[in-house]
Amino acid sequence: MIKPQCPKDRIILALDVDTLEEVKELVLELKDYVGYFKIGLPLIVTYGFEAVRLIEELGGRCYYDSKFHDIPNTVQKACINLVKNNIHFFNIHIQGGSKMISGTVKAVNACCKRLDKEPPVILGVTLLSSFGQRTLTEELCVDKNIEDYVSKLAQVAYESGLDGVVASADEARRIRQQIPDKDFIIVCPATRPTWASVNDQVRVDTPRSAILSGVDYMVIGRPITTADNRIAAAQLILDEITTALEDKENEILV
Ligand code: C5P
Repeated sequence: MIKPQCPKDRIILALDVDTLEEVKELVLELKDYVGYFKIGLPLIVTYGFEAVRLIEELGGRCYYDSKFHDIPNTVQKACINLVKNNIHFFNIHIQGGSKMISGTVKAVNACCKRLDKEPPVILGVTLLSSFGQRTLTEELCVDKNIEDYVSKLAQVAYESGLDGVVASADEARRIRQQIPDKDFIIVCPATRPTWASVNDQVRVDTPRSAILSGVDYMVIGRPITTADNRIAAAQLILDEITTALEDKENEILV
């Protein structure tokens, strides 16, 4: 992987829909405007690999938002099964711990070698974007601010051999400083242009802010999928990304 080659590559469209018909409609309509289609839990529980094959047949690329979080042996086996089913880009929770992560990376790489396959890109999910400080402190009893907590998780991910992390744009800036490896991938969920509703997300960022913070990819769902004109919404986001990339190049960083 798979650093983005053009602005379009940077958009991962979240397909939080229930049927393969809806998947087909969104892929056909938007494949020229987004780089990847994210299959998350709502589709995985019913259609899993069938949805992946459909997207690939229609000419799209897939990001499999598996969010595995279990004991090391279980996650290793699950990830090996993903690889055997030709899933090239997926994630696990960093909160599963370094033993779970490094064991998984090792097992997956060994499996790829045996099967003569390219190793997949595996990302680590830091703290879900629906969490705010109050929930982290009061419900998870974590006595750190979100940025310190996410920064520690990113370090664990890097040292355990993951290819990148899922984190918000605010946290991306710090992760880029702390992990100098330019190939380390940062995916930012909960991206919200200023014209879109925040919905149930808490730690949201605009596409511009994500790019200026050093994010590689952004996950966007409802701002595009529920828009009256989905192509126009995707095009607006693409324009915002393109301008932000140019400004970043010219060091206009606000
Ligand atoms: O519709 P919306 O833009 O809010 O969709 C956001 C997507 O981001 C959801 O599909 C959610 O599962 C995903 N997400 C993610 N990684 C996280 C948190 C949310 O990919 N850490």
